[in-house]
Amino acid sequence: MTTQTPPTTAEHPAQDPASGTRDSGAYGDSLAGIYDLLYPAGPEVALVADFVHSLRPAPATLLELGVGTGRLAVPLAERGFRVHGVDSSPQMLRRLAENDHTGTVTSSVGDFAASTVGRRFDVVLLALNTLFMLPTQEQQIAALRNIREQLADTGVAVLEMYEPMVFHGLDEPSVKVHHLAPDSLVVDTVQVSRSQQTALVVHTVLGPGTVRKVPEVSRYAWPSEFALMARLAGLRITGRWSDWQRTPVTEQSQRYICVLEREA
Ligand SMILES: C[S@@+](CC[C@H](N)C(=O)[O-])C[C@H]1O[C@@H](n2cnc3c(N)ncnc32)[C@H](O)[C@@H]1O
Repeated sequence: MTTQTPPTTAEHPAQDPASGTRDSGAYGDSLAGIYDLLYPAGPEVALVADFVHSLRPAPATLLELGVGTGRLAVPLAERGFRVHGVDSSPQMLRRLAENDHTGTVTSSVGDFAASTVGRRFDVVLLALNTLFMLPTQEQQIAALRNIREQLADTGVAVLEMYEPMVFHGLDEPSVKVHHLAPDSLVVDTVQVSRSQQTALVVHTVLGPGTVRKVPEVSRYAWPSEFALMARLAGLRITGRWSDWQRTPVTEQSQRYICVLEREA
């Protein structure tokens, strides 16, 4: 007779979309172990570095908010930028330290909506829809104000965000499966609340004999709303493209790369 261990299930209460409260480090701590498999540093990373370099060339100082495991920060540092990364997840920063073989990227634990690092930078980068991880409009405006505060007078902020219709247009929950390794995969389900402008993404991580659920709430902002939030924060948009190669925005664009500067 063989006995089988039942799969274990762990759910991390990362965010409560109804109340807007969340543990901002929970998502990162839950996914740090597999983040580099989920979002491998592909060819786009060099395009990001080229894009940033064209705005403010290395050795400019660069602050990456929500730096994660260093998918962008490490290649940017290799390119000569002086990079500091902030993340609310200590586990993500631990991975960043492992990936940063030369130990060039400095980092600190913090919530970029609630605090600043107390210095100003030539470039502030907020990539991969990370602004939308803040569950309320107020927190997103607070983050934009903090970005302004941390920009040098001649600095630029670069934000990457998806076009909200990618989710807002969903009539029913969507499911996507990602292969992670020969013995593990992730099933992502996305459920939208149009009235709250939120997409509840549940990452179900299936490993050998284990099942883990990591919920993530993405509170999306419309492009016009983003422009207004930026103005309220004392920033103005000076450029907007649909990718890192500066392809113009069209009706079909699925994301936006926005460049912002301090309002005079
Ligand atoms: C989607 S990942 C992006 C990581 C990295 N920037 C990249 O491009 O691969 C978002 C990261 O932001 C962090 N994060 C989310 N909310 C945050 C907050 N309020 N303050 C600081 N970090 C936050 C998460 O822990 C995670 O590491």
